[in-house]
Amino acid sequence: MEKIAVFGTGYVGLVTGACFVNAGHNVTCVDIDETKIERLKKGECPIVEKDLPVRIEKGVQSGNLSFTTNASLAVKNCKVIFIAVGTPTKKGSEEADLSAVFAVARTIQENADSSKIVIQKSTVPVGTGDEVEEILNSQIKSGEDRFFHVVVSNPEFLKEGRAIHDFEYPDRVVIGTNDKEAQRVMRKIYVPFMRTSDRMIFMSRPSAELTKVVANTMLAMRISAMNAITPLAEKFGADVTEVRRGIGTDSRIGTAFLFPGGATFGGSCFPKDVRALIAIMEESGMDAGIFKEVMEINHEQRMRFIGKILNYFEKGDITGKKIAVWGLSFKPGTDDVREAASFDVIRTILEKGGTVSVFDEHAKEIFRNEFGNVKGIEYCDDQYVTTKDADALVILTDAMEFRLLDLERLKKAMNKLVIFDGKNLHDPEEMSKEGAHYICMGRPFFNPKS
Ligand code: UGA
Repeated sequence: MEKIAVFGTGYVGLVTGACFVNAGHNVTCVDIDETKIERLKKGECPIVEKDLPVRIEKGVQSGNLSFTTNASLAVKNCKVIFIAVGTPTKKGSEEADLSAVFAVARTIQENADSSKIVIQKSTVPVGTGDEVEEILNSQIKSGEDRFFHVVVSNPEFLKEGRAIHDFEYPDRVVIGTNDKEAQRVMRKIYVPFMRTSDRMIFMSRPSAELTKVVANTMLAMRISAMNAITPLAEKFGADVTEVRRGIGTDSRIGTAFLFPGGATFGGSCFPKDVRALIAIMEESGMDAGIFKEVMEINHEQRMRFIGKILNYFEKGDITGKKIAVWGLSFKPGTDDVREAASFDVIRTILEKGGTVSVFDEHAKEIFRNEFGNVKGIEYCDDQYVTTKDADALVILTDAMEFRLLDLERLKKAMNKLVIFDGKNLHDPEEMSKEGAHYICMGRPFFNPKS
């Protein structure tokens, strides 16, 4: 068992803490937000993440998971300290705001009474590990090595909504450090998750930092490549979902992350990481053209989808039309709405004089907080209630409840059966047979049979 402190009780910190406790370690989660810590102490889970609440409850009951705002005590008690605080994009710039990471580093530096292994889990630009190590060791006088703190880069590859599973059954655990003692401790921490095979990959710290952004950029590139194909498929009457199956069976390509659609990628990771890679390349005087294109395609495709919605109506005039919108988060199973397609879609409809009636199982309240109770938007608790007297339905995530439609109910509720599917969930020909005017991306259009 290792005594571990985790700074930051967001998506990453909580999942990390809860999973380590489940594997037999002792974890103290630290945060500056007192209200959040109080809730966690009571066993309440502040975020929507499958299986996390039970892990937290079990951990607290076992006595091996505790929550505190007392950073200095946590630093003194634990040799191993994870930094998992937020690194949002700075307002009005493309840069990541690293102030929370540096603040934790200073807290460790001020309170440590022995050498620590500090593990950087927050997603940060390449080279941040050097800066953190500098802060941590800033008081060391030359020749004195008593409290030398080592910084390890250990990026996370968790998918929101599947984070617990991804943590406990990882494809790989990337550990960036050349320090032998840190390598030994990291091995000990992660060994419970390596029962079937050793998937720990040791490398240098900059390599690990780069691995994180490159992994997300590669996945985003696959999606953008497929999105870029959709206008061509539409032009020649091809179906991009057939192409996806055709290429995905090639074992060199594989089927994952090849789903195109109008509700293009969002979330806190892909957009941020691709931008971070572009920024660091440009700062270094390199050409990031290929990666810039990934972001541009993502934006253009989203706009093309919105254009299809507007253009359906005569002269693109959506004034007075009611549009039902399903799916507000950037993907199902989470309440995270960061960079979600819903913002662009809903904002445009409202700006153009339409109204929206929206549904999302988890993200309604968070979206309402972000977007506001502005005129023209109605928040519903039932997906079908949104469609009452609606002129069109827009689907923005591939949530399970959107994959099969109660068409009879939709026909009764809506003014006309018009569906814009941003996730290509349904068969265009089947939908036309049902009398639906069904529009998606990169697939043939069939006139509705009335
Ligand atoms: C992503 C990565 O998948 C994780 O490995 C990584 O650790 C994480 O970012 C992170 O950096 O923290 P996540 O952002 O939770 O995880 O979500 P994904 O499931 O990867 O989806 C990202 C976006 O791409 C979503 O908006 C999703 O709808 C979209 N997507 C995904 C597509 O449009 N098409 C696809 O084929 C797949």
